[in-house]
Amino acid sequence: MKKLVFLTGAGVSQESGISTFRDSDGLWENYPVMDVASADGFKRNPELVHHFYNERRKQLIDTRPNKAHLIIKELEQDFDVITITQNVDDLHEKAGSNNIIHLHGELMKVRSIAHPERTYTLEYPNIETCATTVDKYGDIIRPHIVFFGEDVPLYTDALDIVADADILVIIGTSLVVYPAAALVNFTKKGTPIFYIDPKPSTVSYLDNITYIAKKATEGMTELAEILRKNYI
Ligand code: OAD
Repeated sequence: MKKLVFLTGAGVSQESGISTFRDSDGLWENYPVMDVASADGFKRNPELVHHFYNERRKQLIDTRPNKAHLIIKELEQDFDVITITQNVDDLHEKAGSNNIIHLHGELMKVRSIAHPERTYTLEYPNIETCATTVDKYGDIIRPHIVFFGEDVPLYTDALDIVADADILVIIGTSLVVYPAAALVNFTKKGTPIFYIDPKPSTVSYLDNITYIAKKATEGMTELAEILRKNYI
């Protein structure tokens, strides 16, 4: 089976009711990003950061995957699918996708500050954390989120996956946050790339890119047909 790699961003979850970051009324318009998503912000005011991510988690309780997430899962019948997502939501999981890399971390996980390798998955409905929440060793925990200025631990895994892709599909990302945005440059020469986004950024330096300037659900419906017809 061909290796079909998705790089998804906030736009793939927009039709499920989750705000993007940089569209009008996006999250970063309503919250000071360096207060809630930076290591310094966390040091200054951990309560605020926990509160911010608790609010995001609560939003997930009633949020369902949309048709775009579901089609990505369905394509596993015909392709070897791997999804690299910049999203911290759990909608690819809820859709049933099997191979997911969360480049920027996961809302539903926390980790020990003292021992970052100790990560814990929160279980609904006990999904709220606070600045004094500790793990079983008594160590304080923090959101398992890549804050601005921090390394992206899964980046090299993602690079290898993109370099090995037979087809790359980019969905709903402004491609302005690095290093995630740079991933699209690492496909093998000639690899077909599709970019679904109602307002895609211009990536004119890439060969073989096809823009589908539509929302994720409509764009994925269209693309699934193209993929099944031409690439199986
Ligand atoms: P952005 O908010 O920067 O971009 C969202 C993209 O989704 C834009 O290109 C929109 O045009 C597009 N879009 C909006 N509605 C859509 C829809 N229904 N279907 C498809 N596309 C749609 O979000 P990201 O590119 O994901 O990082 O942002 C990258 C990173 O910046 C995030 O992972 C986050 C943020 O700061 C961290 O939190 C570390």
